[in-house]
Amino acid sequence: MKALKRLRSALLAAGASLMVCAVASAEPGAVTPAKWPSLPRQNLAGPTVAARVDRLLASMSLEEKVGQLIQADISSIKPAELRDYPIGSILAGGNSGPDGDDRAPASAWLALADDFYRVSVEKRAGHTPIPVLFGIDAVHGNNNLPGAVIFPHNVGLGAAHDPALLRRIAEVTADEVAIGGADWAFAPTLAVVRDVRWGRSYESYGEEPSLVRSYAASIVEGLQGKRGSKDFMGPHRTIATPKHFVGDGGTNEGRDQDDCKVDEQTLIDIHAAGYVPAIKAGALTVMASFSSWNGVKMVANKGLITDVLKGRLGFDGIVVSDWNAHSQVPGCTKYSCAAAINAGIDMLMAPDGWKRLFQNTLAQVRAGEIPMARIDDAVRRVLTVKILSGAFDRGLPSQRPAAGKFAALAGADHRAVAREAVRKSLVLLKNERNLLPLQAKSNVLIAGDGADNIAKQSGGWTISWQGTGSTNRDFPQGMSIYAGLQQAIESGGGRVELSADGSFQTKPDVAIVVIGEDPYAEFQGDLDTLEYVSSNENELAMLRKLKAQNIPVVTVFLSGRPLWTNPQLNLADAFVAAWLPGTEGGGIADLLVRAPDGAVRHDFTGKLSFSWPRTGLQDGKHRGDAGYDPLFPVGYGLSYKQGARVAALSEESGVPAAARINRNIYFRQGRAAGAWSLYTSDAQGAERVTATRQTSPRKIVDVRSVDVAQQEDAKHVTWNGAGEGSIRIEGRPVDLRRQSNGDMAVSLRFRVDATPTDRVKWTVNCGKDCGAATDVTDVLRAATPGAWTTLKVKLACFADAGADMQTVERPIELVTSGKLELTFTDIRLDSNTGDAICPGSGG
Ligand code: BGC
Ligand code: BGC
Repeated sequence: MKALKRLRSALLAAGASLMVCAVASAEPGAVTPAKWPSLPRQNLAGPTVAARVDRLLASMSLEEKVGQLIQADISSIKPAELRDYPIGSILAGGNSGPDGDDRAPASAWLALADDFYRVSVEKRAGHTPIPVLFGIDAVHGNNNLPGAVIFPHNVGLGAAHDPALLRRIAEVTADEVAIGGADWAFAPTLAVVRDVRWGRSYESYGEEPSLVRSYAASIVEGLQGKRGSKDFMGPHRTIATPKHFVGDGGTNEGRDQDDCKVDEQTLIDIHAAGYVPAIKAGALTVMASFSSWNGVKMVANKGLITDVLKGRLGFDGIVVSDWNAHSQVPGCTKYSCAAAINAGIDMLMAPDGWKRLFQNTLAQVRAGEIPMARIDDAVRRVLTVKILSGAFDRGLPSQRPAAGKFAALAGADHRAVAREAVRKSLVLLKNERNLLPLQAKSNVLIAGDGADNIAKQSGGWTISWQGTGSTNRDFPQGMSIYAGLQQAIESGGGRVELSADGSFQTKPDVAIVVIGEDPYAEFQGDLDTLEYVSSNENELAMLRKLKAQNIPVVTVFLSGRPLWTNPQLNLADAFVAAWLPGTEGGGIADLLVRAPDGAVRHDFTGKLSFSWPRTGLQDGKHRGDAGYDPLFPVGYGLSYKQGARVAALSEESGVPAAARINRNIYFRQGRAAGAWSLYTSDAQGAERVTATRQTSPRKIVDVRSVDVAQQEDAKHVTWNGAGEGSIRIEGRPVDLRRQSNGDMAVSLRFRVDATPTDRVKWTVNCGKDCGAATDVTDVLRAATPGAWTTLKVKLACFADAGADMQTVERPIELVTSGKLELTFTDIRLDSNTGDAICPGSGG
């Protein structure tokens, strides 16, 4: 298994040796602060603010002080609980909303902010009134708030290379945060992402530190206002959070929350590039990264948090930790982590564990495990930010000047900025025979599953955490790409036909096909290779069919990162990298379609801020590295003035079949997905299921292809009861630790055809003598025979039962010695939407 893992790393990251440098320091994670840039102290508090902080500190009890260091998620705390637990801050995580409703209107968000605020400043005996701070992931606009304008994700903004635009975007975002009553935006992400297999690549502006460096101050100033001016933290501003300090974009193979193995100079030059200007611009908070640096979790790295960030870089604001990140520190749990506070974390994001964390932290201070001086320093930072933010003086959130102006949400001026951002973010990769821009007076087919799909064009962190589950109706303020094209074409006398699958009534002059990645966030978007694999298996066939009919094709590619798309590029006459443009889909038509009088309305100005890969393999190379040879380098981008021919491209992705494993989907459309295989086994051995009918070696298990919704899209399995037998999914080991932490499940969509006569186990295998079992007999017996249902088993059940989730080779094996008949259609990794369970453990 180790050997296989090494092989995989060698295959997938041929350039790994370039990225993994020797660690100079003897102790892992140890730093030499003198190597870092030396900044003057930020000095956020002048004498008046400092005096006010002192007075407050003097009146606070130890409980009140400890409370200030803890942040709870709104889905786990009620305003009244602040009376017993003087918690200093609340946040709305990606899936949290007022009263558990993600789609609650802006007015409900504002009312919620009021409710918490009111209790926090209440006049009660023995209570120091201190306003609670409300933080939210406003990462591309105030994206949790229905009706807010959604900007292109950072990957697109990077292509704009326009700091002044970024400032205006941040200003609009701050205003829309203020409208909803929150105080604090968890943005900008200053990750310099070096391996776009990371599912958070779209939160990054680019792979080069210079771009991130050039943006950081503009965004911080756009959010908070300019330091030293009257407008600093004025009524339309919000607190900024450069994140995630530091090295989040440099993790091993682009894995979420993993280890950034680089030497200290690389950490400084590449990954910390944005922090110096952000701190100089007066950033009031910084979020510490989930990731590790050379094996040490950032939240526990005192050298980097205290000696470097607060010492050398002079940062005076709040260092907040990430979502339960403290629970990953050795010796800590989500309820207890003195180590993080001692390392310099000032506020622990403890979404659901805040109560016990509060009590344990209090006890640790009393026991001297956390020095009082550290607590006072942290509280001082929190109070300073609260005073500077205006929270003390502006009163109830709803009474603040910007609050409640719901009509201004996605108002015309805000949308104009977003539309401009869309135009500037698009990168033209190919435009043969100047197919673009199109004459408005044309007959245009608009195809693809992204054409009329605002959720898909907005990506993750949009209303919900993963960006899934929304329809166009959730975006009354938004415009789909189709709607924008329709407007531009019809107003110029042309006509459009919308058809997701590419079929048409009238043969078009040209087809615009909008395809790409479906929404995802964080680890759910991590990839093993750079190949673009559509969730729609008919997509390439659709493109080929259009091509075969001699219809010129313009492909608009939606994605959170550059991906290997050579087959799609070959089939397109023009190809636009549109990233994740957000709610102003009309910005696409602004570039693609001429004005009614034939004039070009806008030309392309976007240039790649990430290298577009030549193959499906990650070579780990960047501009300046020897052998840097992407298909399109950083800086590439055609325009109507400056075209270039793109020759036919190789359609060999270079990815060995064994590496083409799909971490998320195990079985669908009648067969095992990617490099997974379906096996049936009994005491005599295992047989790979490749034919439409197959049995285990001793004929205990019989597996047949059957039709459910389509021809042969399911397997019917019969256990004859004459001995133990199983069916299972098996492949090369995959690392599912992050998915287990993230509360994901394996789901099985099935129908029981004959109830089990003996116990049935679902086991997970992680290599030799490694595995865990759950007993699913009761679930199968409870299922109505003949009715379709989905069983989701939490990955954590297997982890808790002793499976090593780092090396999962069989995510599911169903074993029984009795008789059983069932049919299944889908097996996959799935989110737990409250429906995943831990069935009885079967030993
Ligand atoms: C993410 C942060 C985010 C936080 C709060 C974490 O999982 O890493 O970027 O700000 O959640 O939602
Ligand atoms: C929350 C996100 C958070 C994530 C961390 C989700 O349930 O909604 O805000 O970032 O968990 O894993």
